[in-house]
Amino acid sequence: MNPPAMTSRNSPFRRFLFAPLLAAGLALSACGGGAPQQAQAEWPLAGATIGGDFTLVNKDGETVTWNDFKGQWRIVYFGFTFCPDVCPVDAAAIGGGLSRFEQMDPERAAQVTPIFISVDPQRDTPEVVGEFAETFHPRMVGLTGTKEQVDQAAKAFVATYNLGEPDETGYYPVDHTATTLLFDPDGQPVAILETHQGPQVLADELAKWVQ
Ligand code: NI
Repeated sequence: MNPPAMTSRNSPFRRFLFAPLLAAGLALSACGGGAPQQAQAEWPLAGATIGGDFTLVNKDGETVTWNDFKGQWRIVYFGFTFCPDVCPVDAAAIGGGLSRFEQMDPERAAQVTPIFISVDPQRDTPEVVGEFAETFHPRMVGLTGTKEQVDQAAKAFVATYNLGEPDETGYYPVDHTATTLLFDPDGQPVAILETHQGPQVLADELAKWVQ
């Protein structure tokens, strides 16, 4: 067994991020995808059981499935737009990182689609999430859906969330995993991106993984 925690940078934060994956029974297998096996062997998440089909709604009210992104490298992040700090900072790092990667290598960067999925459909309509995502990168896709759709997607991507108690203004916080995942054009998990280290690290990581 070679758990993904064996990857090079082993910060406490990184271990924290892996905890829910491991708790959910991250299964490793020798499955193959479309990418060259040699490259795949170096992916920290190679063979991990994470990701999978979802059915959500985009800002135009259209149904969107995981398979619709086939052929694109995908960055996936679960959060909510009313988040006071972590989500906007992470979304800015993802969008900014992709913009930097576009300057480094426009051809490869054009194959990358960032996806922000809101776990708070009570407040985040598909339109709100879509507009929120686009403020961080013009190609960032914002999605949400019914609670059932969101829960199904969260389960597939090993994301968890918990709605907090409303304060006197009615605002409620949402605790959630803040893991940024990269998937290959076949939807296979590649790596957890170090979004909390800012846009340049994210750009460098995209340059490392995206072929
Ligand atoms: Ni957040």
